[in-house]
This record gives sequence, structure tokens and C-alpha cells, in this order.
Amino acid sequence: MKLNLKIWRQTGPRAAGRLEDYAAHDISADMSFLEMLDVVNEGLVRQGKDAIAFDSDCREGICGTCSLVVNGIPHGPDRGTTVCQLHMRRFKDGDTITVEPWRARAFPIIKDLIVDRTAFDRIIAAGGFVSVNAGGAQDGNAILIPKDVSEAAMDSAACIGCGACVAACKNASAHLFVSAKISHLALLPQGQVERYSRVVKMIEQADADGFGSCSNEGECEAVCPKEIPISNIATMTREYVRAMIVAGE
Ligand code: SF4
Ligand code: FES
Repeated sequence: MKLNLKIWRQTGPRAAGRLEDYAAHDISADMSFLEMLDVVNEGLVRQGKDAIAFDSDCREGICGTCSLVVNGIPHGPDRGTTVCQLHMRRFKDGDTITVEPWRARAFPIIKDLIVDRTAFDRIIAAGGFVSVNAGGAQDGNAILIPKDVSEAAMDSAACIGCGACVAACKNASAHLFVSAKISHLALLPQGQVERYSRVVKMIEQADADGFGSCSNEGECEAVCPKEIPISNIATMTREYVRAMIVAGE
């Protein structure tokens, strides 16, 4: 396939960015989207030009590092799929494809298609952990958890922290990400120690980092590569109200 690419180039956080045109030749339908960008970059490097900067790590849909907006959709057109797992067979010969970075005030652009997502790390550091004994591994049978509860917790734990939910939201809200962590830990016995302080601290940190609030549009759920349901946000709101009652506010 031959493709026409419009790719966001920006030399640094304070530089002005722009969409630049590139032609991608000899692209196999079996390539992943990131492999297609690798081919374009090899051509740029051969010409002595600056390669297009983009994030990736596992390229297997599990680490949450890849972060491209393809034709206006975070992670591209396939539901429940990270952009590293998006394949070029999804496109036709001659297509024009626009590639942009996540856009949110809390995710400032570092270079080209790479954004700074350390705001998510700060939210996790504020409360996304459990207090546990650091001794030997506990016998799994000593902490009984009903199967339906462990499966519901696992569904929320599937969040890979990619930030597509923020990129899709018109308010740049991090509610789907935060609520997935809150729901996961609130369901498990290990998460009870910080249960109420966690929800307050994580929401406060998200506010401090400049993420917006939720207005129930649902774009986050639509683009989430792990299909985290928006019902997690309702769970988070209930946890927050309980935390206020426990604190007597
Ligand atoms: S909720 Fe989904 S879109 Fe948001 S960070 Fe987690 S995996 Fe990514
Ligand atoms: S590179 Fe790891 S999820 Fe895409």
C-alpha cells in the first residue's frame, strides 16, 4: 500500500507544532501501525532528517505506552485495541491518515507525538496502592474472595494507564482511569485500609493536575482499549460520598 500521512511535528514543549505531509510506500497490510511508522522513520533517517518521535514499549497491548490519535480517534478506529495492535489492513491503498498526540493540558507535549503522562503517576502515588506486610508471600487460601468479586476487581484492574480516556474527553477528564483504580481496590480486602482516604486523595490530585470533570459523555468508554465501563465512575462517586460521610463532612 501507499499511504498519505499527515503527522504532528513539534520540536519541543514550547515550540509551535504543525501537521506535516509524508508518503509511506511499500506498506504491508500485515504491519502494525507502529511498524508502518518505523518504515517511515527509516526513510527519514536515511535522508538525514529527524525521525518522528512516538512512544511505544510492549507493542502487545499490555503496557499502555503507545498513545496516538489516528484520524481523530485515540488508538484509532478499532474498538478495544491499542494503536500498537492496530494493523494496516484496517486501511486502504491511497488513504490519507492523520496522526496526532494525546491533547490535554495535563499531558503536555514533549516532542512530536510524545506527551508527558507523569500526571497519572502522581495520581497513583496519591492513593493507588495498598498497605501490605512486606514479609513472605501469604497463602492465597488465607484471603478468601468470592469469584464474582475477584472477577469484577480484575475487570477494573485491566486498565493499562494509557490515557486515551483523557484524550477522548472534551473535558480532558481522568475519571475513567481514576475510577478503574478506585473500583479495583475498593472491591478487594487488601484495599480496605486506605479505602476512603484513597478516593479523596486521588480525585484531589487529578484536580490539582488540571484534569477536567466528568459530564457523562461516554467517549472515554468508547476509546478505552481495555473496554473499562463508565459504570466505574458511578462506583467512584459512591465511594467519594461514603468517604465524606465517614469523615463527617
Ligand atoms: S481507563 Fe482505558 S483509556 Fe483510560 S487509562 Fe485505563 S486503559 Fe487507558
Ligand atoms: S506499546 Fe504497550 S500497549 Fe501499546
